[in-house]
Amino acid sequence: MSWDIEKIKTDLNGDIGGASSLDMLEAVRLKYLGKKGLVQSIYAALSSAGPEEKKSLGKGANDIKTLAEALIAERKKSLVTQSQRRDAIDVSIPGVGRVVGTQHLITQTVEEICQVFERMGFVLQQGPEIETEFNNFSALNIPLDHPSRDSFDTFYLDQPDPEAAGRYLLLRSHTSPGQVRVMQHNKPPLAVIIPGKVYRPDALDASHSFMFHQIEGLLVDKHVTFADLKGLLTSFCRKYFGPDVKMRFRPHFFPFTEPSAEVDIQSNIFKGREGKWLEILGCGMVHPKVFASAGYPEGEYTGLAFGLGVERIAMLKHGIGDIRTFVENDMRFLKQF
Ligand code: DAH
Repeated sequence: MSWDIEKIKTDLNGDIGGASSLDMLEAVRLKYLGKKGLVQSIYAALSSAGPEEKKSLGKGANDIKTLAEALIAERKKSLVTQSQRRDAIDVSIPGVGRVVGTQHLITQTVEEICQVFERMGFVLQQGPEIETEFNNFSALNIPLDHPSRDSFDTFYLDQPDPEAAGRYLLLRSHTSPGQVRVMQHNKPPLAVIIPGKVYRPDALDASHSFMFHQIEGLLVDKHVTFADLKGLLTSFCRKYFGPDVKMRFRPHFFPFTEPSAEVDIQSNIFKGREGKWLEILGCGMVHPKVFASAGYPEGEYTGLAFGLGVERIAMLKHGIGDIRTFVENDMRFLKQF
Protein backbone atom coordinates (compact mmCIF):
# COMPACT_ATOMS: atom_id res chain seq x y z
CA MET A 1 0.00 0.00 0.00
CA SER A 2 1.32 3.45 -0.85
CA TRP A 3 0.93 6.43 1.39
CA ASP A 4 0.55 10.00 0.16
CA ILE A 5 1.97 11.82 3.14
CA GLU A 6 1.13 15.30 1.78
CA LYS A 7 -2.48 14.31 1.12
CA ILE A 8 -2.77 12.87 4.60
CA LYS A 9 -1.51 16.17 6.03
CA THR A 10 -4.09 18.11 4.01
CA ASP A 11 -6.86 15.75 5.12
CA LEU A 12 -5.69 16.13 8.70
CA ASN A 13 -5.97 19.91 8.44
CA GLY A 14 -9.44 19.61 6.98
CA ASP A 15 -10.57 17.09 9.62
CA ILE A 16 -9.30 19.28 12.43
CA GLY A 17 -10.99 22.37 10.99
CA GLY A 18 -14.28 20.45 10.74
CA ALA A 19 -14.15 19.21 14.33
CA SER A 20 -16.60 21.62 15.97
CA SER A 21 -16.84 19.80 19.28
CA LEU A 22 -14.53 18.01 21.67
CA ASP A 23 -16.19 14.68 20.78
CA MET A 24 -15.57 15.24 17.08
CA LEU A 25 -11.98 16.20 17.81
CA GLU A 26 -11.49 12.98 19.75
CA ALA A 27 -12.73 11.04 16.71
CA VAL A 28 -10.14 12.83 14.59
CA ARG A 29 -7.44 11.99 17.14
CA LEU A 30 -8.39 8.30 16.99
CA LYS A 31 -8.41 8.36 13.19
CA TYR A 32 -4.82 9.61 13.04
CA LEU A 33 -3.18 8.77 16.37
CA GLY A 34 -5.25 5.90 17.74
CA LYS A 35 -3.97 2.31 18.03
CA LYS A 36 -5.70 1.47 14.77
CA GLY A 37 -5.11 4.92 13.37
CA LEU A 38 -3.29 6.03 10.21
CA VAL A 39 0.08 6.69 11.85
CA GLN A 40 0.14 3.20 13.38
CA SER A 41 -0.83 1.65 10.04
CA ILE A 42 2.12 3.43 8.39
CA TYR A 43 4.49 2.19 11.08
CA ALA A 44 3.17 -1.33 10.56
CA ALA A 45 3.80 -1.09 6.84
CA LEU A 46 7.43 -0.07 7.36
CA SER A 47 8.60 -3.68 7.87
CA SER A 48 7.66 -4.64 4.35
CA ALA A 49 9.05 -1.47 2.73
CA GLY A 50 12.35 -1.09 0.94
CA PRO A 51 15.21 0.86 2.64
CA GLU A 52 14.60 4.20 0.84
CA GLU A 53 10.88 3.97 1.19
CA LYS A 54 11.28 2.96 4.82
CA LYS A 55 13.24 6.14 5.46
CA SER A 56 10.86 8.57 3.78
CA LEU A 57 7.75 6.79 5.01
CA GLY A 58 9.09 6.69 8.59
CA LYS A 59 9.82 10.39 8.48
CA GLY A 60 6.44 11.07 6.93
CA ALA A 61 4.67 9.10 9.70
CA ASN A 62 6.65 10.98 12.36
CA ASP A 63 5.75 14.31 10.75
CA ILE A 64 2.07 13.44 10.62
CA LYS A 65 2.22 12.35 14.27
CA THR A 66 3.87 15.59 15.44
CA LEU A 67 1.59 17.72 13.29
CA ALA A 68 -1.55 15.90 14.43
CA GLU A 69 -0.58 16.21 18.09
CA ALA A 70 0.10 19.94 17.73
CA LEU A 71 -3.03 20.70 15.72
CA ILE A 72 -5.25 18.66 18.00
CA ALA A 73 -3.86 20.35 21.13
CA GLU A 74 -4.38 23.76 19.59
CA ARG A 75 -7.92 22.99 18.41
CA LYS A 76 -8.80 21.53 21.77
CA LYS A 77 -7.73 24.73 23.50
CA SER A 78 -9.86 26.89 21.25
CA LEU A 79 -12.91 24.58 21.60
CA VAL A 80 -12.61 24.71 25.41
CA THR A 81 -12.39 28.50 25.51
CA GLN A 82 -15.31 28.73 23.11
CA SER A 83 -17.49 26.57 25.32
CA GLN A 84 -16.44 28.52 28.41
CA ARG A 85 -17.34 31.71 26.68
CA ARG A 86 -20.73 30.24 25.82
CA ASP A 87 -21.33 29.43 29.53
CA ALA A 88 -20.25 32.87 30.69
CA ILE A 89 -22.87 35.52 31.51
CA ASP A 90 -23.86 37.58 28.52
CA VAL A 91 -24.71 40.90 30.11
CA SER A 92 -26.36 42.14 26.95
CA ILE A 93 -29.19 39.56 27.11
CA PRO A 94 -32.35 41.03 28.71
CA GLY A 95 -32.67 39.62 32.25
CA VAL A 96 -35.35 37.27 33.56
CA GLY A 97 -37.13 39.19 36.30
CA ARG A 98 -37.59 37.32 39.57
CA VAL A 99 -40.96 37.71 41.20
CA VAL A 100 -40.40 38.82 44.77
CA GLY A 101 -43.33 38.02 47.04
CA THR A 102 -44.71 40.38 49.65
CA GLN A 103 -46.17 39.72 53.05
CA HIS A 104 -49.91 39.18 52.97
CA LEU A 105 -51.80 42.29 54.07
CA ILE A 106 -53.28 40.44 57.04
CA THR A 107 -49.82 39.38 58.25
CA GLN A 108 -48.62 42.95 57.83
CA THR A 109 -51.59 44.31 59.76
CA VAL A 110 -51.13 41.79 62.60
CA GLU A 111 -47.46 42.76 62.86
CA GLU A 112 -48.16 46.49 62.77
CA ILE A 113 -50.85 46.29 65.45
CA CYS A 114 -48.73 44.05 67.68
CA GLN A 115 -45.80 46.43 67.32
CA VAL A 116 -47.88 49.35 68.58
CA PHE A 117 -48.76 47.38 71.72
CA GLU A 118 -45.27 45.93 72.12
CA ARG A 119 -43.89 49.47 72.18
CA MET A 120 -46.32 50.13 75.05
CA GLY A 121 -44.86 47.19 76.98
CA PHE A 122 -47.17 44.33 76.00
CA VAL A 123 -45.59 40.91 75.47
CA LEU A 124 -46.52 38.75 72.49
CA GLN A 125 -48.04 35.32 73.26
CA GLN A 126 -49.53 32.51 71.17
CA GLY A 127 -52.39 30.18 71.89
CA PRO A 128 -53.54 27.00 70.08
CA GLU A 129 -56.28 27.06 67.44
CA ILE A 130 -57.78 23.87 68.87
CA GLU A 131 -59.22 24.62 72.27
CA THR A 132 -61.28 23.10 75.02
CA GLU A 133 -64.82 24.22 75.82
CA PHE A 134 -63.52 25.23 79.20
CA ASN A 135 -61.00 27.74 77.85
CA ASN A 136 -63.15 28.98 74.98
CA PHE A 137 -66.31 29.36 77.08
CA SER A 138 -66.61 28.29 80.70
CA ALA A 139 -63.48 30.00 82.04
CA LEU A 140 -64.68 33.16 80.31
CA ASN A 141 -67.95 33.10 82.21
CA ILE A 142 -69.90 31.82 79.21
CA PRO A 143 -71.78 28.97 80.94
CA LEU A 144 -72.67 25.72 79.18
CA ASP A 145 -76.00 25.97 77.37
CA HIS A 146 -76.18 29.71 78.00
CA PRO A 147 -77.64 31.72 75.09
CA SER A 148 -74.57 33.96 75.02
CA ARG A 149 -72.74 31.02 73.48
CA ASP A 150 -74.84 31.55 70.37
CA SER A 151 -72.96 34.73 69.52
CA PHE A 152 -69.78 32.69 69.45
CA ASP A 153 -71.03 30.01 67.10
CA THR A 154 -68.46 27.29 67.03
CA PHE A 155 -66.98 24.51 64.93
CA TYR A 156 -66.70 21.39 67.10
CA LEU A 157 -64.23 18.64 66.32
CA ASP A 158 -65.16 14.97 66.67
CA GLN A 159 -62.29 14.57 69.08
CA PRO A 160 -63.29 14.19 72.74
CA ASP A 161 -61.75 16.58 75.24
CA PRO A 162 -59.33 14.36 77.21
CA GLU A 163 -59.94 16.43 80.34
CA ALA A 164 -63.75 16.75 80.28
CA ALA A 165 -65.90 13.64 79.89
CA GLY A 166 -68.61 13.97 77.23
CA ARG A 167 -67.16 17.22 75.91
CA TYR A 168 -65.48 17.79 72.57
CA LEU A 169 -62.56 19.90 71.42
CA LEU A 170 -63.31 22.85 69.15
CA LEU A 171 -61.75 25.44 66.87
CA ARG A 172 -61.46 28.56 69.00
CA SER A 173 -64.19 31.05 68.11
CA HIS A 174 -62.21 33.99 69.52
CA THR A 175 -58.72 34.65 70.86
CA SER A 176 -60.05 35.24 74.39
CA PRO A 177 -59.15 31.66 75.53
CA GLY A 178 -55.57 32.90 75.15
CA GLN A 179 -56.26 35.14 78.18
CA VAL A 180 -57.27 32.11 80.19
CA ARG A 181 -54.08 30.25 79.30
CA VAL A 182 -51.90 33.22 80.17
CA MET A 183 -53.57 33.67 83.56
CA GLN A 184 -53.37 29.94 84.32
CA HIS A 185 -49.59 30.12 83.99
CA ASN A 186 -48.68 33.66 85.11
CA LYS A 187 -49.26 35.88 88.12
CA PRO A 188 -49.92 39.63 87.71
CA PRO A 189 -48.66 42.14 86.86
CA LEU A 190 -48.94 41.06 83.24
CA ALA A 191 -49.62 42.67 79.87
CA VAL A 192 -49.91 40.41 76.83
CA ILE A 193 -51.20 40.47 73.28
CA ILE A 194 -52.24 37.25 71.56
CA PRO A 195 -52.78 37.36 67.78
CA GLY A 196 -54.33 34.43 65.92
CA LYS A 197 -56.87 32.86 63.60
CA VAL A 198 -60.39 32.27 64.85
CA TYR A 199 -63.21 30.19 63.33
CA ARG A 200 -67.00 30.54 63.20
CA PRO A 201 -69.50 28.71 60.99
CA ASP A 202 -70.59 31.90 59.21
CA ALA A 203 -71.66 31.94 55.58
CA LEU A 204 -69.11 33.77 53.46
CA ASP A 205 -70.15 37.24 52.32
CA ALA A 206 -68.57 40.70 51.97
CA SER A 207 -68.22 41.12 55.73
CA HIS A 208 -68.26 37.55 57.14
CA SER A 209 -65.83 34.69 56.89
CA PHE A 210 -65.57 31.29 58.58
CA MET A 211 -61.98 32.14 59.50
CA PHE A 212 -60.64 35.54 60.47
CA HIS A 213 -58.00 37.05 62.69
CA GLN A 214 -58.17 38.65 66.10
CA ILE A 215 -55.65 40.16 68.45
CA GLU A 216 -56.42 39.72 72.12
CA GLY A 217 -55.03 42.05 74.74
CA LEU A 218 -54.92 41.57 78.49
CA LEU A 219 -53.43 43.71 81.22
CA VAL A 220 -53.77 42.71 84.87
CA ASP A 221 -52.38 44.51 87.90
CA LYS A 222 -53.51 45.90 91.23
CA HIS A 223 -55.17 49.20 90.29
CA VAL A 224 -56.14 48.99 86.63
CA THR A 225 -59.16 51.17 85.81
CA PHE A 226 -61.59 51.75 82.96
CA ALA A 227 -59.77 55.07 82.41
CA ASP A 228 -56.62 53.05 81.69
CA LEU A 229 -58.56 50.99 79.15
CA LYS A 230 -59.90 54.12 77.42
CA GLY A 231 -56.50 55.78 77.45
CA LEU A 232 -54.75 52.72 76.10
CA LEU A 233 -57.16 52.10 73.22
CA THR A 234 -57.41 55.79 72.33
CA SER A 235 -53.66 55.95 72.18
CA PHE A 236 -53.61 52.81 70.00
CA CYS A 237 -56.17 54.22 67.54
CA ARG A 238 -54.27 57.53 67.23
CA LYS A 239 -50.98 55.74 66.66
CA TYR A 240 -52.42 53.29 64.19
CA PHE A 241 -54.95 55.38 62.24
CA GLY A 242 -53.34 58.80 62.75
CA PRO A 243 -53.88 61.63 65.27
CA ASP A 244 -57.12 62.85 63.66
CA VAL A 245 -58.95 59.52 63.92
CA LYS A 246 -62.58 59.79 65.00
CA MET A 247 -63.37 57.06 67.52
CA ARG A 248 -65.97 56.35 70.17
CA PHE A 249 -66.57 53.88 73.00
CA ARG A 250 -70.08 52.40 72.87
CA PRO A 251 -71.46 50.39 75.81
CA HIS A 252 -71.85 46.69 75.04
CA PHE A 253 -72.12 43.33 76.77
CA PHE A 254 -69.55 40.55 76.99
CA PRO A 255 -69.82 37.81 79.64
CA PHE A 256 -66.11 38.00 80.42
CA THR A 257 -65.88 41.76 81.04
CA GLU A 258 -67.85 44.17 83.22
CA PRO A 259 -68.33 46.91 82.20
CA SER A 260 -67.89 46.18 78.48
CA ALA A 261 -67.70 48.37 75.40
CA GLU A 262 -67.06 48.32 71.70
CA VAL A 263 -64.88 50.82 69.90
CA ASP A 264 -66.06 52.31 66.61
CA ILE A 265 -64.06 54.27 64.06
CA GLN A 266 -65.67 56.82 61.78
CA SER A 267 -64.89 56.12 58.19
CA ASN A 268 -65.37 57.64 54.78
CA ILE A 269 -64.02 54.69 52.85
CA PHE A 270 -67.35 53.34 51.67
CA LYS A 271 -68.97 55.41 48.93
CA GLY A 272 -72.47 56.55 49.86
CA ARG A 273 -71.87 55.61 53.49
CA GLU A 274 -69.48 58.43 54.41
CA GLY A 275 -69.24 59.17 58.10
CA LYS A 276 -70.42 55.67 59.05
CA TRP A 277 -69.21 54.23 62.38
CA LEU A 278 -67.57 50.82 62.08
CA GLU A 279 -66.81 48.54 65.01
CA ILE A 280 -63.19 47.43 65.31
CA LEU A 281 -62.92 45.85 68.75
CA GLY A 282 -64.63 44.68 71.91
CA CYS A 283 -63.21 45.50 75.33
CA GLY A 284 -63.91 45.80 79.01
CA MET A 285 -62.73 45.26 82.57
CA VAL A 286 -61.97 41.60 83.30
CA HIS A 287 -64.95 39.97 85.07
CA PRO A 288 -64.20 38.73 88.62
CA LYS A 289 -65.44 35.26 87.59
CA VAL A 290 -62.70 35.09 84.93
CA PHE A 291 -60.10 35.84 87.62
CA ALA A 292 -61.72 33.18 89.79
CA SER A 293 -61.47 30.47 87.14
CA ALA A 294 -57.82 31.41 86.63
CA GLY A 295 -57.31 30.82 90.36
CA TYR A 296 -56.47 34.42 91.23
CA PRO A 297 -57.36 35.47 94.81
CA GLU A 298 -60.67 37.32 95.02
CA GLY A 299 -60.58 41.11 94.97
CA GLU A 300 -56.84 41.42 94.63
CA TYR A 301 -56.50 42.36 90.99
CA THR A 302 -58.23 44.36 88.31
CA GLY A 303 -57.61 44.03 84.60
CA LEU A 304 -58.52 45.32 81.21
CA ALA A 305 -59.04 43.20 78.10
CA PHE A 306 -59.78 43.79 74.47
CA GLY A 307 -60.16 41.81 71.24
CA LEU A 308 -59.44 43.50 67.91
CA GLY A 309 -60.76 42.34 64.54
CA VAL A 310 -57.78 42.35 62.20
CA GLU A 311 -59.67 42.11 58.87
CA ARG A 312 -61.97 44.96 59.93
CA ILE A 313 -59.00 47.16 60.78
CA ALA A 314 -57.15 46.34 57.54
CA MET A 315 -60.33 47.04 55.54
CA LEU A 316 -60.78 50.40 57.26
CA LYS A 317 -57.19 51.44 56.92
CA HIS A 318 -56.87 50.50 53.24
CA GLY A 319 -60.39 51.13 52.01
CA ILE A 320 -61.17 47.47 51.22
CA GLY A 321 -64.86 46.75 50.86
CA ASP A 322 -64.95 42.94 50.80
CA ILE A 323 -63.40 40.52 53.30
CA ARG A 324 -63.23 37.77 50.66
CA THR A 325 -60.46 39.59 48.79
CA PHE A 326 -58.05 38.54 51.56
CA VAL A 327 -58.37 34.85 50.69
CA GLU A 328 -58.98 34.87 46.95
CA ASN A 329 -55.26 35.00 46.08
CA ASP A 330 -55.75 37.58 43.35
CA MET A 331 -52.23 38.89 42.75
CA ARG A 332 -53.56 42.21 41.44
CA PHE A 333 -55.12 42.81 44.87
CA LEU A 334 -52.29 41.38 46.98
CA LYS A 335 -49.50 43.17 45.14
CA GLN A 336 -50.86 46.59 46.13
CA PHE A 337 -49.71 46.20 49.72
N1 DAH B 1 -63.88 37.83 72.20
C1 DAH B 1 -64.76 38.89 71.76
C2 DAH B 1 -65.32 38.54 70.39
O1 DAH B 1 -64.79 37.71 69.73
C3 DAH B 1 -64.00 40.18 71.67
C4 DAH B 1 -63.64 40.71 73.01
C5 DAH B 1 -64.52 41.50 73.71
C6 DAH B 1 -62.44 40.38 73.59
C7 DAH B 1 -64.19 42.00 74.94
C8 DAH B 1 -62.11 40.89 74.84
C9 DAH B 1 -63.00 41.69 75.51
O2 DAH B 1 -60.95 40.62 75.43
O3 DAH B 1 -62.64 42.18 76.73
O4 DAH B 1 -66.28 39.14 69.98
